[in-house]
Amino acid sequence: MKIYKNIPLKKYNTFGLDYTAECLIHINTEKEASSLFNGSTDWKKPLLILGSGSNILFIDDFKGTILYPELEGIKIEEQKQNKESIIISAGAGVIWDDLVEWAVIKGFGGLENLSLIPGKVGATPVQNIGAYGVEIKDLIVKVKTINLNDGSMRIFTNEECEFGYRNSIFKNSEKSKYLVTRVYYRLAINPLVNLCYVSLKEEVNKLGKETLKNVRKAVIKIRRSKLPDPAIIGNAGSFFKNPVVKSSVAERIKKEYPDMPLFEDQEGYIKLASGWFIERCGWKGKRIGDVGVHEKQALVLVNYGKATGKEIFNLSQEIKKSVYEKFGVDLEREVEVIGII
Ligand code: EPU
Repeated sequence: MKIYKNIPLKKYNTFGLDYTAECLIHINTEKEASSLFNGSTDWKKPLLILGSGSNILFIDDFKGTILYPELEGIKIEEQKQNKESIIISAGAGVIWDDLVEWAVIKGFGGLENLSLIPGKVGATPVQNIGAYGVEIKDLIVKVKTINLNDGSMRIFTNEECEFGYRNSIFKNSEKSKYLVTRVYYRLAINPLVNLCYVSLKEEVNKLGKETLKNVRKAVIKIRRSKLPDPAIIGNAGSFFKNPVVKSSVAERIKKEYPDMPLFEDQEGYIKLASGWFIERCGWKGKRIGDVGVHEKQALVLVNYGKATGKEIFNLSQEIKKSVYEKFGVDLEREVEVIGII
């Protein structure tokens, strides 16, 4: 365990924003996590749990304590003979894409469509990460956590996580109350690949057979062609969620804009594409000072170098306003804003 005071946050957030935190604690084991919160020390509130900072926007210095889990280790938990699936687990601090690569090399299926998503294992249940037709909620068996009030251990079953689109109990009623230490996933031993996403199927077919390795290669290729690498241009992936609206709302817009993309959702609802709305409002590729909207994917806001969190936030407000005025659709931020607006 390491405790830092007044630490610069630039390398702790993928927007590359230059704020500081009063206190930041690297946590390496469950025991450390538990001992930190068994009542002996009163850590300065607010508490913020940070993975690789790939889904947050700091708009000010952080006047509290940041927990930075670094729990390592990938394990095979249960592999019964003649079974179709296997349970594996990974520490909250494992780099997500390292786990995906490990599974693909082993021939365990399920994670490959989620290749190259930035972040760490601990964030995957919080955020219910998803891409190319797969959401992690369909693979998570359980989530091991430490209660930040008393240091006790608690397991959340899949059901108890109350997963939704980029959402879970850890972002709602149990927000900042539990530190995820380990996540358990069920993977397939003789996997069928999921190519429901048409452009992914096309890319895989160009590579040859429909194998886990080719799916991973294709996903990486598509992501690299559309999404900026945070190591080069600061960003946090999709800045907004895709709005889920009543079918009648989607039909109203579709009448006026027949080329608008639509995706089936639960009965009576349609998921729309925020990137399309933002592009249609003329934002794609726009740059104002050092903030901008990515030229290849309008859902991604970028920091070209010296942008502040407030400037990025202000741009997101302007985008929200123009999409609402033109289409009557309210975009919700996917990125979590840290600081007082
Ligand atoms: N579109 C545009 N203009 C744009 C971007 C998209 O017209 O600038 C249209 C596309 O042509 C397509 C539709 O919008 O018809 C959907 O676009 P895309 O397939 O690129 O995916 P997305 O909806 O923009 C979502 C996730 C991504 C994930 C991709 C692939 C959300 C908020 N975003 O983006 O996740 O990688 O699908 O599955 O659900 C993330 O969460 O950080 C993220 C990158």
